[in-house]
Amino acid sequence: MPNKSKIISGFSKLSKQQKIDWINSLIHESNAASTLKNQLAPPEKTQKIFDGLSENVISNYILPFSVAPNFLINGQPYCVPMVTEESSVVAAAASAAKYWALHGGIKAEVISMTKLGQVHFCWNGPKEALLEIWDELVELFTIATNDLTKNMRARGGGIQKIELKDFTEVEPEYYQIMVSFDTKDSMGANFINSILERIGDILEDFVGSHPKLKQYRLEIVMAILSNYTPECIVRASVECRLDQKELPGCGQEGSLTFAKKLHKAVRIAEIDPHRATTHNKGIFNGVDAVIIATGNDFRAVEACGHTYASRNGKYESLSHCELTKTSFKFWLDLPLAVGTVGGLTTLHPLAKLSLDLLGNPSAEELMQIVAATGLMQNYAALKSLVTTGIQHGHMKMHLSNIINHLEASPQETQDILAHFQEKKVTFTAVREYLASLRQEKVQ
Ligand code: MEV
Repeated sequence: MPNKSKIISGFSKLSKQQKIDWINSLIHESNAASTLKNQLAPPEKTQKIFDGLSENVISNYILPFSVAPNFLINGQPYCVPMVTEESSVVAAAASAAKYWALHGGIKAEVISMTKLGQVHFCWNGPKEALLEIWDELVELFTIATNDLTKNMRARGGGIQKIELKDFTEVEPEYYQIMVSFDTKDSMGANFINSILERIGDILEDFVGSHPKLKQYRLEIVMAILSNYTPECIVRASVECRLDQKELPGCGQEGSLTFAKKLHKAVRIAEIDPHRATTHNKGIFNGVDAVIIATGNDFRAVEACGHTYASRNGKYESLSHCELTKTSFKFWLDLPLAVGTVGGLTTLHPLAKLSLDLLGNPSAEELMQIVAATGLMQNYAALKSLVTTGIQHGHMKMHLSNIINHLEASPQETQDILAHFQEKKVTFTAVREYLASLRQEKVQ
């Protein structure tokens, strides 16, 4: 029996093969090594890129790469690339997008594009002494980071604002320098962090050599971007008049009844954090899938989205709905810090391909596409929840997974699909039905 609690030192120094052998010694599956090795062997050049992205790389972890066509955003059609392992997500986004494409499409607008970073420091002198030199310091920070901001300024971005924030009421001696940035089409993490570290060094040097200030103690705690970007916001929305058009997906029950249920479902997610969490999870099913496909940082996007959802002191829905007797409006406000240049966007072949598929969008355009996908995902989930129930759609996907797993022939697949159209799908029921089909054939 392999020992799962083995401690190993020098793992990073082992060759890839040695790492795989070690992993193999920890697991039961006898062909684990070949499973790891056989992950879609990419060309050597690409594999080198993957190997360089992280540490102790021993294989590639493959997820489905899908597309959701028929997104009409601001009058422009898109086929949206999505990476997700969850069945029904892509189908749901694609079908909602198609409904709305036939009903005027999705409107999306970027409301603001500001990214933030902080230099956290402690200072045991009087605040007034800091305020006295503040304007001089801001000028110094700007001049001394000119070399770092030069290229970004040439693209129209750079530092927007440098502010001093006093937190001493909640934590003794604690202050922040909050810096606002425009990073244009890049997510800007490295750019922001380099500038913040430089600002921290300058602050330390300036105070340490200032005749009046050096008697006090200044300590830089850390300098790092903030993944919370409440001023980097995109809004995606759909609307229609209920008296002129059928609300997409309303089915038999009519637009107004359906719209009322959908409105209530959103209202519940606005007031109840338990429901809001699941509701927003559904939004991130779509958001993350595009973020991953385009080589962006889904952890940053998620963390930011959830903080934003809590900005009123309670975790709330990210989407909202407005209903009158004659009109329906459904929208999503999302803070999104994404890039379409730099980072993985140009390194990962599928991220590159995804951006290509989207027409090589600017960061603003990608924000609109991501938010539109989140909105459609949410619409599709709510539509199912307030009409047929979520299991109805899931079961169809589940059935096709079971059929694949049981390796049914095309004829058997057809028979199974017909048989289970109105019946409850379970693995055992499908297996038994397939066995009965095969038995009939033998007889
Ligand atoms: C499942 O991944 C997502 C949903 O639960 C979202 C929702 O409940 O709104 C269907």
